[in-house]
Amino acid sequence: MSLLPILEFPDPRLRTRAEPVTAFDAELRQFVADMLETMYAANGVGLAATQVNVHRRVLVADMSDDRQQPLVLINAQILEKEGTQVYQEGCLSFPGLYADVTRALQVKVKAQDVEGNEVVVEAEGPLAVCIQHELDHLDGKVFVDYLSSLKRTLLLKRLDKQRKQAAGA
Ligand code: NI
Repeated sequence: MSLLPILEFPDPRLRTRAEPVTAFDAELRQFVADMLETMYAANGVGLAATQVNVHRRVLVADMSDDRQQPLVLINAQILEKEGTQVYQEGCLSFPGLYADVTRALQVKVKAQDVEGNEVVVEAEGPLAVCIQHELDHLDGKVFVDYLSSLKRTLLLKRLDKQRKQAAGA
């Protein structure tokens, strides 16, 4: 297994639309294992393939307290959405940046597992947020796209400042 480098905003590759997975083979299994390892190592709760510059429709998530309940969704599609919730989101492609985003409270998702078997997942609360956030990545969308332009500008300025400080500039 190996850790994959994570693209950080504003890398234009984060805007790529991912293609469906068609081959459920050893290469895919290895990629999913690497994505999980990368997500856990970065203390993330979710990771989309787009973020590691692989433009296929794969996402992984784990919102459990013990960090031992990985969810792997391939070619996921939202079948139903219900309600709304506001949740403070972060993203491994925006280290140190958090913002409130409004999304559906519950989602019903159809996807495939790593073997290609169809799975249906019903999620609500934080896990529903996570799935919607990662699915957006696969469509080239990021969470700050939901903010007003004023709020986005302020947050991105702060992110830029943090980066410069971290770099010792
Ligand atoms: Ni993200």
